[in-house]
Amino acid sequence: MAIDGPAGAGKSTVAKAVAKRLGYRYMDTGAMYRALAWKAMRHGAAPDDESALGRILESTDVDLGADGTVMLDGADVSGAIRTPEVGQMASQVSGMKIVRQRMADLQRAMGRSGSVVAEGRDMGTVVFPEAEVKVYLDASPETRARRRFDELAAKDSTLTLEQTLADVMRRDRRDKERAVAPLRRADDAVFIDSTAMPVDAVVDRILQEVNSKSNENGRIA
Ligand code: DC
Repeated sequence: MAIDGPAGAGKSTVAKAVAKRLGYRYMDTGAMYRALAWKAMRHGAAPDDESALGRILESTDVDLGADGTVMLDGADVSGAIRTPEVGQMASQVSGMKIVRQRMADLQRAMGRSGSVVAEGRDMGTVVFPEAEVKVYLDASPETRARRRFDELAAKDSTLTLEQTLADVMRRDRRDKERAVAPLRRADDAVFIDSTAMPVDAVVDRILQEVNSKSNENGRIA
């Protein structure tokens, strides 16, 4: 299953819940880009320095644990990558073809190991175009900024809602406008606007879609 959408749309919460209900593996592909971005920052690499990023990629191992842990070269970076700065850097480095190719290879390899709920920006369009169910999850920019702010404010008391909104909008613009694998709704993705929907309602809507798809497939078979 592929779930795509902009920052703060609720993808992670919903994807985790759906994966749990179906007994599928949850795959947070944004965390993979964040882990690479975090490493690039530590190496002082500029976001547009393709050769430096290429070198870093060659010696980088990113893996996602079944419990959602993000492992980078054998170390747990799950908490360290959840900052707005790492998010911006991830959005920048993810525009590079060399980076996307490597990540897509890793993601497809994980996908081959069993049923997954993969969330990101290009799951339904590029990485898993054959996914059984595709969802494009969106919400108003204000709602998305508020969700991100609520997540991050506990860790950073200097953060403001206005800053978070600007951050989210800058990232969305970049993710939608990049040349390689931009964020867009796949033609066959179900569109869900979660602005006024509680998490449970979004999860139920997706599970409904899963059921109707398996009934359809059953009829065809
Ligand atoms: O989902 P997230 O906010 O953790 O993702 C961080 C950045 O990574 C996002 O701004 C764009 C990039 N990304 C991507 O290009 N493709 C994906 N499949 C997932 C994330």
